[in-house]
Amino acid sequence: MRNKLKRFADNAERNNIVEPGKEIYDSIKGNWSEFFRNSNPIIVELACGKGDYTIGLAQRFPERNYIGVDIKGSRIWYGSTTAEEEGLENVAFLRAQILTIENFIAENELSELWITFPDPRPRDRDERRRLTHPRYLSLYRNMLVDGGIFHLKTDDRPFFDFTMEMLQQFPVTELAYTTDLYESPMLEEHYGIQTTYEKRWLKEGKKINYLRCRFHKQKEG
Ligand SMILES: C[S@@+](CC[C@H](N)C(=O)[O-])C[C@H]1O[C@@H](n2cnc3c(N)ncnc32)[C@H](O)[C@@H]1O
Repeated sequence: MRNKLKRFADNAERNNIVEPGKEIYDSIKGNWSEFFRNSNPIIVELACGKGDYTIGLAQRFPERNYIGVDIKGSRIWYGSTTAEEEGLENVAFLRAQILTIENFIAENELSELWITFPDPRPRDRDERRRLTHPRYLSLYRNMLVDGGIFHLKTDDRPFFDFTMEMLQQFPVTELAYTTDLYESPMLEEHYGIQTTYEKRWLKEGKKINYLRCRFHKQKEG
């Protein structure tokens, strides 16, 4: 508990964390390029936890900007700490409920969006709370530029299948996927990055599902 409070206190001082109580929290929408002081593409990792993709990709692509989003300040503290220690200026974290993401990210502000190991919410009555329910996918489509890339990585096969089904309601192209990432050529696209939860699932012998596609504003034709 004391550790958590210390992390919250650190977060309040961090320039790379946007969270309630900071002035920037209310004015960041549409202003991320100004925040990063460049016009490079912006990529978001939702449900980022400790921000393993945010950090791993930011290290490999310094000419792109990365924002990790999670509701838990005690988790984003880890990614924020690594970014500070390594002087990664292309990294930020946003502490927010994903359902309210429109308050923080403007239409067409993103070039790519990742969701890494979201809670699968298996109960039928929780379907609307799944991060790939159409009410969430609509938000993502608005934030992404036309043709922006959407990635999902999950251990949960029913959640993955649900997502594939929901995507059919959207104008997506170039959909590619695997239900066993570690036996797939798509693994190369991950640059060896593994998330905290992923490591746990791999130890338990679970297979990892991955999909990517491009979101369009309108159906073609
Ligand atoms: C299973 S963890 C995965 C964390 C990380 N991506 C990983 O793979 O190690 C799911 C994360 O999603 C966050 N989360 C779940 N629902 C959320 C929501 N509606 N808004 C913001 N964060 C959420 C949780 O706080 C948690 O850190």
